[in-house]
Amino acid sequence: MKTTWQTALIVGASSGIGAALVKRLAAQGCRVAAVARRSDKLENLVVGAHAAGGGGEVLPYVADVRDAQSVPELFATITGDLGGLDLVIYAAGVMHPVQFEEYETVKDLEMLRINLSGAVAWLNPAAQRFGRLKKGTIVGIGSVAGDRGRSGSPVYNTSKAGLHTYLEALRNRVGRYGVKVVTIKPGFVDTAMTRGLPGLFWLISADRAAEVILKKARKGVVTAYVPGRWRLVMLIIRSMPSFIFRRLKV
Ligand SMILES: NC(=O)c1ccc[n+]([C@@H]2O[C@H](COP(=O)([O-])OP(=O)(O)OC[C@H]3O[C@@H](n4cnc5c(N)ncnc54)[C@H](OP(=O)(O)O)[C@@H]3O)[C@@H](O)[C@H]2O)c1
Repeated sequence: MKTTWQTALIVGASSGIGAALVKRLAAQGCRVAAVARRSDKLENLVVGAHAAGGGGEVLPYVADVRDAQSVPELFATITGDLGGLDLVIYAAGVMHPVQFEEYETVKDLEMLRINLSGAVAWLNPAAQRFGRLKKGTIVGIGSVAGDRGRSGSPVYNTSKAGLHTYLEALRNRVGRYGVKVVTIKPGFVDTAMTRGLPGLFWLISADRAAEVILKKARKGVVTAYVPGRWRLVMLIIRSMPSFIFRRLKV
């Protein structure tokens, strides 16, 4: 299927879900700016898109989302290089392993910087541009983990809950101009982030996740669980009273 997007920016594009999104968009004829720190992985995407011959193109940009100050200039460079911008997806994220009773502030603040502050740094200029032009699609990759404060991973959960709230607020700002803001909440996806973790279930591939994410983004839905069966599970988990939820060792 041909995409309606001619140009896209994926932040956190070098592996996992972000890389799968880049590949799918390029295969559909899109010009894709791919942002991440690992240049070799980005180069592989450039070469892969060329070899696949889908008519699209990948433009690599090496950047660290913790460097918020550099974003406005790089964002302007990217929109200039692409010759426009139809779609922005913030997929960058880290989930540092945390022991049950560990309180490691440096590690925690790093997750907030990458998962939440980085999203604000990249999606603020996107919202501003799309609001001015009265078109465009913004997608943020949140998580089912952001729907509740779990004892096992307090700050990863917080970063995703913060991202969900920020995306909702952006939607309420720029939705009135026809800009779509889509919150994606994946369950378990088979990527470097989850490799080796115990207790995974309903695991889907990064490519399958990317397929569903693009479908939901094209429709402009408000929130999508990926895969969709998580919606019911999370409805139950979100409705659970705190005195019960706190007894679950999750
Ligand atoms: N896998 C899952 O089960 C799952 C479930 C729910 C939500 N998610 C979310 O999905 C998103 C993608 O994760 P993934 O599973 O695809 O993991 P992944 O394969 O580890 O990909 C993470 C991406 O984030 C980028 N990134 C990390 N730190 C960065 C930094 N400082 N600056 C720039 N880019 C940075 C990485 O690029 P570089 O290292 O090259 O910079 C990489 O491209 C994350 O937001 C994650 O929280 C994943």
